[in-house]
Amino acid sequence: MSVRRLADDSVQPKSFAFTAKNLNWAKQTIKKYPKGKQHSAVIPVLWRAQEQHDGWVSRAAMEEVGRMLDMPFIRVYEIATFYTMFQLAPVGKKAHIQVCGTTPCMLRGSEDLMSVCKRRIAEQPHTLSEDGDFSWEEVECLGACVNAPMIQIFSDTYEDLSPEAMEELLDRIANGQKINPGPQVDRIMSAPEGGLTSLNGDVVSDRKVAARKPAANKPAAKTAASGPDRKAAPAKTSPAKKAAKTAPAKKAGPERLTRPKGEADDLKLISGVGPKLEQTLNKLGFWHYSQLGKWTKKDIAIVDDELSFKGRIERDDWVRQAKVLAKGGEAEYIKVFGKKPR
Ligand code: FES
Repeated sequence: MSVRRLADDSVQPKSFAFTAKNLNWAKQTIKKYPKGKQHSAVIPVLWRAQEQHDGWVSRAAMEEVGRMLDMPFIRVYEIATFYTMFQLAPVGKKAHIQVCGTTPCMLRGSEDLMSVCKRRIAEQPHTLSEDGDFSWEEVECLGACVNAPMIQIFSDTYEDLSPEAMEELLDRIANGQKINPGPQVDRIMSAPEGGLTSLNGDVVSDRKVAARKPAANKPAAKTAASGPDRKAAPAKTSPAKKAAKTAPAKKAGPERLTRPKGEADDLKLISGVGPKLEQTLNKLGFWHYSQLGKWTKKDIAIVDDELSFKGRIERDDWVRQAKVLAKGGEAEYIKVFGKKPR
């Protein structure tokens, strides 16, 4: 672990005071501890001070916390300098990037992520970028090894990163664009990339329906036996009605093909689509840029649902990318986006 010292006097503010809201929160928090054990509130109170003070704890903030908890200042300094969750010097206004450098992340490319930080932010960790918007540091395991390599920015983690994805993330933050925490590839949490590979059939769908309409899935006899004030179970849908319900759903939505017309397009050229996701798209009947390029908002919602991958299509703007690729392939893509498609 690196040596952790308080920041230079040149950046230390002269005083620190909690806002009224945070002060009230701190008092309530301190009250949760038994009499004589109030010192135990030091970590949450310091954390609140860090949140209030642009992501770092100054000496003045530590001393204020010491006064509130009736603790010698040295005890508060010890705690703040021991736990790496506390930043001891000013951090980037837009992002302080904590890159996990522990073995699983290191084996999966965290050093490349740090190279991006060195080039884009500052050669040395804990150093502000020229515009003061960014800073970075290497940290130990942040507990998301299954999605290595990963980083943390303030309270959120961003996982399954590549140097390119890291560059894109920094661009988005710099431009004030929304970034979605979690995996940055086509997976949900730690599920397989490209969607579920097991328990992904009707049983899962039925469970989803059951979760939304529990009564509709209970046997009628059980519902009747449970008492007169319970709602009677709705009548079972007849096969004819079922067909009537499902038939339009099949017709509605995006155009699908059981097989490609001629040669299938390389959907992986669309940023955000990997090999597994391409296979899934093919299985769903999508083979060509021209198909994706025609998706409406409604179509996107339908495909989003089928991929169990909410938001990715719009976030990466698949439709625009597909339109451009359909129009003029890679050359047109480079012309419009100023970079090669992935
Ligand atoms: S090793 Fe990086 S999150 Fe665990």
